[in-house]
Amino acid sequence: MIRVENLWYTYDGDNYVLRDVSLEIGEGEIYYILGDNGSGKTTLIRHLNGLLKPSRGRVLVDGLDTRETPVSRLAEKVSIVFQNPEKMFYMPTVIEEISTTLRNFGVENPDQRAEEILREYGLSRYRDRSPFTLSGGEKRILSIAIMTGWSPRYLVLDEPTIGLDGDYRRRLQWAIDRHLSRGGSVVIVTHDMELVLEREGRVVILSDGQVVYRGYTQELIDLDPGQLGRYGLVKPTYARSTSYMKTSGVIKDYHGYCGVFAEVAGVLDNV
Ligand SMILES: Nc1ncnc2c1ncn2[C@@H]1O[C@H](COP(=O)(O)OP(=O)(O)OP(=O)(O)O)[C@@H](O)[C@H]1O
Ligand SMILES: [Mg+2]
Repeated sequence: MIRVENLWYTYDGDNYVLRDVSLEIGEGEIYYILGDNGSGKTTLIRHLNGLLKPSRGRVLVDGLDTRETPVSRLAEKVSIVFQNPEKMFYMPTVIEEISTTLRNFGVENPDQRAEEILREYGLSRYRDRSPFTLSGGEKRILSIAIMTGWSPRYLVLDEPTIGLDGDYRRRLQWAIDRHLSRGGSVVIVTHDMELVLEREGRVVILSDGQVVYRGYTQELIDLDPGQLGRYGLVKPTYARSTSYMKTSGVIKDYHGYCGVFAEVAGVLDNV
């Protein structure tokens, strides 16, 4: 479990960009962190592997206080795919980029595993290219492929669907489901409500560094579109329709509907 306890953070020693944030990310669960630009989402997740240390409060990863634990030890547990994937690349080819990271994390047979990862994520044709020459979506899926490669316990994705469509989006979904099915936890920072509504999980919305909403995915379906809009979120039309069906008595609750949304998204992809 990751426990964020009364976390305050300031970059400049003056303005707090996280203010008294508390949350618990449990084993095997999916946790969404939503909120407008500049609300503090990326700052919050940088605390999860100790890249940033709390100005006040504390963060515990499986009981380890991030202030007292080396980042290398935390990084074995918490794998973060950042918003700007190209920042993590440093090898001359895609295959070396993957195998070197796996080797650094002590994965057995890293060269063989890297070849498998290339195939799993549909990246084989880019094997010998420089990662920097890939398109935006290709860079993003490569960074996801690398950061899931050594089965960390917590997978943290910062805006993972930006620039991903069609096939790569399906591969992202597959990577999330595989991680969850192995008992891992997934933390997703996103503005993409379609992605959020595809799986039932916990949700927090940040605004100006504070938690302003706490709940579960299915409860978002009932939130007023205007309220969601203030946090930079757009409710998909099918979620509005479902909400209407509930208020008009056609259905009683949303239980299980996130699964249906995932199916709808899959069908629409193929239409
Ligand atoms: N290195 C930094 N130095 C100073 N201020 C920073 C730094 N990084 C972020 N900030 C500020 O902290 C606040 C929160 O930024 P953060 O990147 O966490 O927001 P975000 O919710 O991830 O936004 P976005 O949706 O645009 O990615 C913003 O006001 C931002 O300008
Ligand atoms: Mg961000």
